[in-house]
Amino acid sequence: MEKITLQTLRKMKKTGEKIVCLTAYDASFSHVLSTEGIEVILVGDSLGMVIQGHKSTLPVTPQHIAYHMECTARGNQNAFLISDMPFMSYATLPQALENAALFMRNGANMVKCEGGLWLKETIQQLILNGIPVCGHLGLTPQSVNVLGGYRVQGVTPAAAKKISEEAFALQEAGIEMLILECIPSMLASDITQSLQIPVIGIGAGPSCDGQILVLHDLLGVTPGYAPKFCKNFLIESREGVQGAVRLFIQAVKAGKFPAAQHSFV
Ligand code: KIV
Repeated sequence: MEKITLQTLRKMKKTGEKIVCLTAYDASFSHVLSTEGIEVILVGDSLGMVIQGHKSTLPVTPQHIAYHMECTARGNQNAFLISDMPFMSYATLPQALENAALFMRNGANMVKCEGGLWLKETIQQLILNGIPVCGHLGLTPQSVNVLGGYRVQGVTPAAAKKISEEAFALQEAGIEMLILECIPSMLASDITQSLQIPVIGIGAGPSCDGQILVLHDLLGVTPGYAPKFCKNFLIESREGVQGAVRLFIQAVKAGKFPAAQHSFV
């Protein structure tokens, strides 16, 4: 398999081939995922919840992400690696540049920031410094205290309009990819069709250019509550973890995941 690059992902958007993404945090899993054909691996700050056992992603620091990125990069074969920018690691421009540089040095191909219009200058400066950026709109877990909980976003017409406008503004600022989390399927579909960059959904319906899940949700080992948009693929697998990853890839490529029961109206 050839190394997945931004060119590959842009081409997949054009041809309509679904992009399959998962989180990983270590070398063993990134080796399995990339060998099975996962195109994009995200070292997400979800590690705060599924690895560290916190109730939110807020305690995750740049040092934590840097460590897990280094481990993940070692095991990776051909996947495109995205590093999350954790809570408060991009609050100012100097912080954003310094932390993004750390993650890129440790193996990332791109960094991901949660948020809308306020990020325009940060995105532009990161790109000028050779760092591609992925946006993240909808349910942005780092803002859980502002949002008042982990709930579906973009439900009212005004909220939907704001997310659409922010998606355009981020594309204009130069992001090369966008993650939409926990928004109604129709809204995600409209944004996906209107943008030129690949749009990856999690709880955003079947029409996005690709799908991402937290690895532990796909394996059914997340402690406590599993959101509606998750599916345990390990239950259906006859070939262990590798089989579960293969089933996820097949379901996303065929447009069978997410189904209606994993989506919001
Ligand atoms: O941190 C993470 O794993 C994420 C995904 C849920 C998109 O941001």
